[in-house]
Amino acid sequence: MYIVTVTLATLVIIPVLLKIFFPYFWEDVVYLKDLVRILLTFVSRRKRRPLFLAVDRFIEQSALHPNRTFVLFENKSYSYQDADRESNKIANALRAYSRLQAGEAAALFMGNEPTFMFTWLALAKLGCPVAFLNHNIRSKSLLHCFSCCDAKVLIAAVELEDALKEIQPALKEKGVCVFIMTKECSISEFTSFTDKVEFASDSPISRSHRSQITFKSPAVYIYTSGTTGLPKAATVSQTRLLAALAVLASNGVTAGDVIYLNLPMYHTAGFLIGFIGSIETGATIVLRRKFSASQFWDECRKYNITVIQYIGEVLRYLCNTPKKENDQLHKVRLAIGNGLRAEIWREFLNRFGNIQVREFYASTEGNVGFVNYIGKIGAIGRVNPFHKKFFPYALIKYDTEGDEPVRNSKGLCIEASKGETGLLVSKITDIAPFVGYANNQQQTEKKKLRNVFKKGDLYFNSGDLLRIDWENFIYFQDRVGDTFRWKGENVATTEVSDIVTMIDFVEEANVYGVQVPGHEGRIGMAAVTITKGKALDSKKMFSHVASYLPAYAQPRFIRIQNSVEVTGTFKQMKKTLVEEGFNPTLITDPLFFLDDKEKSYIPMTKDIYKAVVSGNSKL
Ligand SMILES: *[C@@H]1O[C@H](CO)[C@@H](O)[C@H](O)[C@H]1NC(C)=O
Ligand SMILES: *[C@@H]1O[C@H](CO)[C@@H](O)[C@H](O)[C@H]1NC(C)=O
Ligand SMILES: *[C@@H]1O[C@H](CO)[C@@H](O)[C@H](O)[C@H]1NC(C)=O
Repeated sequence: MYIVTVTLATLVIIPVLLKIFFPYFWEDVVYLKDLVRILLTFVSRRKRRPLFLAVDRFIEQSALHPNRTFVLFENKSYSYQDADRESNKIANALRAYSRLQAGEAAALFMGNEPTFMFTWLALAKLGCPVAFLNHNIRSKSLLHCFSCCDAKVLIAAVELEDALKEIQPALKEKGVCVFIMTKECSISEFTSFTDKVEFASDSPISRSHRSQITFKSPAVYIYTSGTTGLPKAATVSQTRLLAALAVLASNGVTAGDVIYLNLPMYHTAGFLIGFIGSIETGATIVLRRKFSASQFWDECRKYNITVIQYIGEVLRYLCNTPKKENDQLHKVRLAIGNGLRAEIWREFLNRFGNIQVREFYASTEGNVGFVNYIGKIGAIGRVNPFHKKFFPYALIKYDTEGDEPVRNSKGLCIEASKGETGLLVSKITDIAPFVGYANNQQQTEKKKLRNVFKKGDLYFNSGDLLRIDWENFIYFQDRVGDTFRWKGENVATTEVSDIVTMIDFVEEANVYGVQVPGHEGRIGMAAVTITKGKALDSKKMFSHVASYLPAYAQPRFIRIQNSVEVTGTFKQMKKTLVEEGFNPTLITDPLFFLDDKEKSYIPMTKDIYKAVVSGNSKL
């Protein structure tokens, strides 16, 4: 009897105590279990001989369930077997009509369509790394990106033929073989390819084509746009691709799920997470050419979509659409992505119902990632000692003014304390490698940080400022460079833009710092778009900004735009805005100036401009 009582008491008390003192105990345990499972799968796959690559997982899946739907696209459906056969045909056509050898790179210039997937599969089967060219870029930029990875073959969608025609002489000089996905090609220097694929054999590609590959071999090149300069080609190794298989599976996605893939596949989110992640689970992909806020939920309903992906501002766009009665009528249970800000997160859940949000942190070239498996609003992950042991990382004190890590008298970095913002650095190891950028040793070196905690050690510099709270949640604070200093204070652009977009007539706000002659640092400026049917109320804008932001963080200038320009990954573009500054004779958009005396934003005039740049106006 006594034993029973004690046992019962323990059974009741322990969970209660755990809940109080370790509120996330069970979630942490479950995460740990998943992490161990992933690592074991990864390690056992890495031991297989011949090598087991991401493409082998696809071949395995299509052998296991050939008739399951792999991808749905504009009313067309392709099973795993269809995709397997189609990729064999492309590969066999390439063998017959090009001199592409295993290990040589090919470039893919194509929008989101099933052929993109099939072509990647084909090239992967042939043992060729693939460079994903952004289909929005043209001329010099396009040529630069193409040249980064020494590709011998370029495969392009027919609608992009004209873009290639522009750079044709340069391609010819390099001896590049250009295939266009069309039955008849109008440009004589290019070769039509669809006709060749149609008649090619669908017999499987021998594994021997992949015999030279190692886990360090490049698998794909993904271009990342930095804040400055031309895009860089981040080399994604075979190891990385193998690890990427786990991303969706480890977040509870299974074969029964339907995944909505509308992010560009030439980027990490679309390709590594959406496409490669789905292969592991054996799920169905609903593919779309591009993201559309107005079609989003109708398509989710039409296809019974259960998993959605987001990046950057995507969920904000969904929240900005007019409210509908059927907003919560859908089967979406999981949203996975990164860049979701806390207030949009709340709004999204309130509006579209109980969807599990898995916000994660990762970068194309980086070697560490986190996932917020608890659903704590605003966090990008959680410190887990086990994870940290395998992937050693740290937040180190950072001097935003000098734009470099703070070092002690011994020349080593200093770990930031709990609650303090620091730069994320992660140790470069065999399982957490940093391959760097193709043909760009200088940029690769710039991302490496030495002598961090010991003389001679080597870390990857993420360029991201994070913060860890007392409960061990990790928060994104800023990208190095997304902060500017004014009057000796740091201004975080994301924070200001969150405040400005709280105003009902402001749809979006892009915040940045601009230089004023005779002043240190940069003064705040916001490029905003106005909500449809509303108008700028400059007095209200002033009082809102004044009540929520310290004086140094208040945007001194407001620029009204019809739309906020974003990058392919839906991140706001700032570079041009910063360069254009606040000169009313150069900028045609309406400009406003925060006038402390008027307690309002007043239209910017040439006189105000002169007073500001000559130092006659007190800022
Ligand atoms: C797939 O479908 C084909 C044709 O409908 C059928 O002959 C075949 O048995 C199916 N395969 C499996 C594994 O269900
Ligand atoms: C898909 O089919 C529907 C109905 O049959 C049609 O209205 C729609 O235009 C089709 N969409 C595309 C992209 O072909
Ligand atoms: C979606 O689910 C409903 C009910 O479960 C089913 O009737 C319908 O056929 C499904 N639609 C698709 C496209 O799978």
